[in-house]
Amino acid sequence: MEHLTTSGVFALDGGSWEVDNNVWLIGDDDEVVVIDAPHDADTIISAVNGRRVVAVVCTHGHNDHVNAAPALADAVDAPILLHPEDRVLWDMTHPDRAPDGELADGQVVKVAGTELRVIHTPGHAPGAVCLYAPGAGVLFSGDTLFQGGPGATGRSYSDFPTIVASIRDRLLSLPEETVVNTGHGDSTTIGAEAPHLQEWIDRGN
Ligand SMILES: [Fe+2]
Repeated sequence: MEHLTTSGVFALDGGSWEVDNNVWLIGDDDEVVVIDAPHDADTIISAVNGRRVVAVVCTHGHNDHVNAAPALADAVDAPILLHPEDRVLWDMTHPDRAPDGELADGQVVKVAGTELRVIHTPGHAPGAVCLYAPGAGVLFSGDTLFQGGPGATGRSYSDFPTIVASIRDRLLSLPEETVVNTGHGDSTTIGAEAPHLQEWIDRGN
């Protein structure tokens, strides 16, 4: 598993924000899955370093997670996978280029002997997904769960009760030692976050 960070702008609802995004490469010396394609295709292509890319998996359709996906996918000849409920967001960034395939809850993406299970976790975005690698004890949470709480739900196509339900029902039930690698910022664990669910609900958003 490899990690890199790219920087750029997140834009939605007429606002824009400078952001640093995490990119995760899962695989071995021969093949990888790339989780999210933010801002800078060349940096990601360099990290791939000639290996076969099984898929470019987008955790959701916000522009800061997909803006480099077509350039990356074309360069490494890999399919872009996105949950269909996030096409509304994807199309804001790439109106002339559709993803190549869909992600569905329960789907398994296999790479280098590792199974990545798709967990549909709507709330931050309607088609937000997490990728769970049970063998490695790792969850890739996109913008659904961060160190310190849920992803933002203040902008269009987001919903706070929905993200709370996703986290409570689909993520906090995972083993507490599960490492959570997020879409922005530092990693955490299920066990570190689970005790704070009620605080987040009380805080609201
Ligand atoms: Fe996002």
